[in-house]
Amino acid sequence: MAPHSWSNRYATGLRAIDDDHRGLFELVDALEEHHEKASGSSLVAATIAALQVYAAEHFAREERFMRKAHFPDFERHHRIHEDFRALVDALARFQGQSPDSVDLGRVTRFLNRWIGEHILVKDMEYLPYVTGEATGTPHSLEKPALTELTVHVPAEKRDAVIQFAALLTEGGEIAEALEQALSTRLRQRFERFDRQAHALFERHEPPAP
Ligand SMILES: [Fe+2]
Repeated sequence: MAPHSWSNRYATGLRAIDDDHRGLFELVDALEEHHEKASGSSLVAATIAALQVYAAEHFAREERFMRKAHFPDFERHHRIHEDFRALVDALARFQGQSPDSVDLGRVTRFLNRWIGEHILVKDMEYLPYVTGEATGTPHSLEKPALTELTVHVPAEKRDAVIQFAALLTEGGEIAEALEQALSTRLRQRFERFDRQAHALFERHEPPAP
């Protein structure tokens, strides 16, 4: 059983963020467990894919918090997030092309160290702005850029989807509650798929020498 990498020293006191950080560590713990059990490459790929989606969701949430609080170092923090995402994307490609060449021990050590240091150093920088202890200066990032998208939904759900999008765009307590619910749903979905992946892909016999 892999050790649980989360500890209270990583707590920011912001529930949505702490839940996300716990979820990130749990995914790395899952990878470490795959390493210890020498799980099949499909299971490893599924966990890396979950990490890609989960990190993207989490960084987007954090960045909304930072924008709302007018955190002055937003751009640099955003670039660090983008670099991490690009690295995990590259890891996914590498693992997909050549699973036996990936040293999962090195991967999990890197991810645990990166996530831990990022929380303790970078995330703690925006915390006083989000809690209101420090005051940022409103700038052009105050209003998130809007994007137009086309989605296909059942006709009878059209109005509900439009209202849902409007609530999320407006922000505020209802939007945060909706995002929290989506995040929880996403985690449950990953847990369900992880169980399914275990059932489908886990190697029961040691690999042939
Ligand atoms: Fe961050």
